[in-house]
Amino acid sequence: MPVDDLPIVLDRGSTEPLAVQVADALRNAASTGTLRVGDRLTSTRELAARLGVSRTVTAAAYDQLLAEGWLAGRRGSGTFVTAAPPNLTPACPTGPSRSTGPSAPPATTVDLTAGRPCLDALDRAAWRRAWRAAGDRMPAPSPEFAGHPDFSQAVVDHLLRHRGLAASPEHVLATSGTTSGVAEVAAQLPRGATVAMEEPGYQRAAVTLEAAGLRVVTVPVDENGMRVDRLPDRIAAVYCTPAHQFPLGSRLSADRRVALVRRARDEGFLVLEDDYDGELRYDVAPLPLLASLCPDVVVHLGTTSKLLTPTLGTGWLVAPPEMHRRILRTRQRNCHRPSPAGQMVFAAFAEYGDLSRHLRRLRRELSERRAMVVDMLRSVDVEFQGDAAGAHLMVPLPGAEEEAAVVAGAAEAGVTVPGLLDYHHGRPSVFGISIGYASAGRADLDWGVELVAKVAAEALRS
Ligand SMILES: Cc1ncc(COP(=O)(O)O)c(C=O)c1O
Repeated sequence: MPVDDLPIVLDRGSTEPLAVQVADALRNAASTGTLRVGDRLTSTRELAARLGVSRTVTAAAYDQLLAEGWLAGRRGSGTFVTAAPPNLTPACPTGPSRSTGPSAPPATTVDLTAGRPCLDALDRAAWRRAWRAAGDRMPAPSPEFAGHPDFSQAVVDHLLRHRGLAASPEHVLATSGTTSGVAEVAAQLPRGATVAMEEPGYQRAAVTLEAAGLRVVTVPVDENGMRVDRLPDRIAAVYCTPAHQFPLGSRLSADRRVALVRRARDEGFLVLEDDYDGELRYDVAPLPLLASLCPDVVVHLGTTSKLLTPTLGTGWLVAPPEMHRRILRTRQRNCHRPSPAGQMVFAAFAEYGDLSRHLRRLRRELSERRAMVVDMLRSVDVEFQGDAAGAHLMVPLPGAEEEAAVVAGAAEAGVTVPGLLDYHHGRPSVFGISIGYASAGRADLDWGVELVAKVAAEALRS
């Protein structure tokens, strides 16, 4: 978001030219910390309109500060503050480290980490309406360990309509999100038991499983998803992302789905189906959920983190009856219950039809963004992998060295893009970068992806 509330007061009676006054005010704001490194300034056109001056004035002021090194600009992505007094905290603490002198490289921090939601697609009025409606509901007099009944009903409708899973409200347990659902299931497994998961895969799940005293072993992934034939014997569970493998972007093929649930049933292990973005298919038809193929061995996990925002802290799980009972009993004993606020907001958002509208909008937005990313990669002959789904794709690279070079090259120019190293539990076996295209603004995305594509093309050439 550009900073549009800039602290500029013009003295029209002064002999100082207006462009100099604007430049002085901005320089002053950057040096006192009112503007921070990484802040994006409003466009020269908008600033001119706000100050009631001509655009030549604001453009001259920006040019002056660009020349002095206080600002850096890119066509189409805006103008950013790049210099600040020492000890000033950068605007985005998660971005790459940057120096703060006027000769610093562009401070643009565009974060292309996969797994973030697309807030640009959220209709603010609908969002506010949901919060207001949630606030109008009377709170329950005692903890609802399974979740708010309206939420369970909304999840049932959502699963049926968007994921083809028939469940009834008493099958649903509200969670604080998928990762917390994984933790609750893990707590029910015998300590020291082995759980298999995809490699590369979602490392928060690995950490969560290990925190519950479980041993994590990894299973390779190819263009048809997890290699079910490579699952070891004597495992207590498998954690996987069949709808859209995280982070490689493939989906588990139909025959592997059947093989997986058959083995689970025959060998007595549980399958944790992390359906983190299964609703976000926009070109490819979905395959049946593992939970609909074989509900007696599958714990299905869903979340609002990708559809809406992780700040809602809300998700759901549908588990086989015994696992469902045990989780509920544990909650009742330790008085753990997921916070109802997010559940009530989700239920209200769904009730007025806003969830379906939002999903349509989100799919459209993400599919356009993906097309843009794909075009950009193709224009420099960089290959990519991953279904036309979700909010990320993967650019394969030949080895660790190239991966590190692309990650570092992008970071140096102000773009955060993770390498697959971050998604490995053991020794890296697949190399590349994953590009998340949901959370950056369109202009930042354009610029960031163009830059990453060029850096990747360069690494591939050399
Ligand atoms: C594969 C995968 N599963 C689950 C999640 C997160 O779920 P939650 O925020 O509901 O814990 C993420 C978030 O990045 C993810 O990438």
